[in-house]
Amino acid sequence: MILVTGGAGYIGSHVVLALQRAGFEALVLDNLVYGHAEFVPADKLIHGELEDREKLKQLFADHPIEAVIHMAAYAYVGESVTKPAIYYRNNIYGTLCLLEAMVEAGVGKIVFSSTCATYGEPDQIPIPESHPQRPINPYGFTKLVVEQMLRDFDRAYGLRSVVFRYFNAAGAEPDGQIGEDHNPETHLIPLVLDVAIGRRPHITVFGDDYATVDGTCVRDYIHVSDLADAHVLGLKYLRTGGETTFFNLGNGNGFSVQQVIDAARQITGKPIAQVLGARRPGDPAQLVGGADRARQVLGWSPRFADIETIIATAWRWHQSRFGKD
Ligand SMILES: NC(=O)c1ccc[n+]([C@@H]2O[C@H](COP(=O)([O-])OP(=O)(O)OC[C@H]3O[C@@H](n4cnc5c(N)ncnc54)[C@H](O)[C@@H]3O)[C@@H](O)[C@H]2O)c1
Repeated sequence: MILVTGGAGYIGSHVVLALQRAGFEALVLDNLVYGHAEFVPADKLIHGELEDREKLKQLFADHPIEAVIHMAAYAYVGESVTKPAIYYRNNIYGTLCLLEAMVEAGVGKIVFSSTCATYGEPDQIPIPESHPQRPINPYGFTKLVVEQMLRDFDRAYGLRSVVFRYFNAAGAEPDGQIGEDHNPETHLIPLVLDVAIGRRPHITVFGDDYATVDGTCVRDYIHVSDLADAHVLGLKYLRTGGETTFFNLGNGNGFSVQQVIDAARQITGKPIAQVLGARRPGDPAQLVGGADRARQVLGWSPRFADIETIIATAWRWHQSRFGKD
């Protein structure tokens, strides 16, 4: 049995589905602060907190957990700047509670959701895993600290880990059962689709004078189902004795904000009003990851690499979740 913390969230619910499809039994721990109970089977959901040490202890005593996929965290970059305390508490202290409970229960494998935000301003594109990690916000820093904790816990307690540094998760389960529903929403594709569906008046493009293909920022969008598949492969890697390691999970292909908006116009058939805003501090011109290592070591290959498919799956979900009829 695999414990998925944060499994009722956007990426977590797709991971639970991928695990079930691959024949694993999944159990979810989520405090539902941002998660959605309806995204996971009711009998697999444990409503609880990472910081609740007693609950964690009981959970590991009651269930034959073989490994943990740890996705529970707060993940709003801007909020982490204005409210760092809750980020340090949830993402670092919460993780410490989990790791201690795992060590105590003798659970020796963990897959962890890290982020490209640990790299900070990139020196090169695509960003390799060997790139220096210099996060420029508390959110990225909390994830970097956990990466270090995991290395230390392996050395001291033999807890083996696979760290995935995700780029921008996007899209939705192609069957349309689950998808992205963050509140507040900060991610580009759902914001653009909100305009298409009439939930927002326009999309603001923050700067059009970057040194990129069309002046707007370039980001790496990775389909959430491809991300989820990588977690199954990460587990199998640990199961077969793989050593503690880390991988980028990105598409390897960047798309500009303007390209995303244009593709969304085409897919939705809606005009999608856009307005130009000022550059946001701390927004690098390009963030694109090299994911060759995950392909080579894990045999991972993304199934939904083009931006049109990513947006089309997101649009299908968006209409079913937020459409008027
Ligand atoms: N979405 C992205 O593009 C992206 C990129 C890089 C990294 N990540 C990381 O991936 C993970 C999942 O991201 P997401 O977009 O699915 O976010 P999400 O908010 O949808 O999911 C996180 C889940 O964790 C739960 N949670 C938070 N704190 C908890 C706690 N203390 N105890 C129990 N449950 C708790 C929330 O209720 C939520 O369901 C996060 O760790 C995030 O930092 C996401």
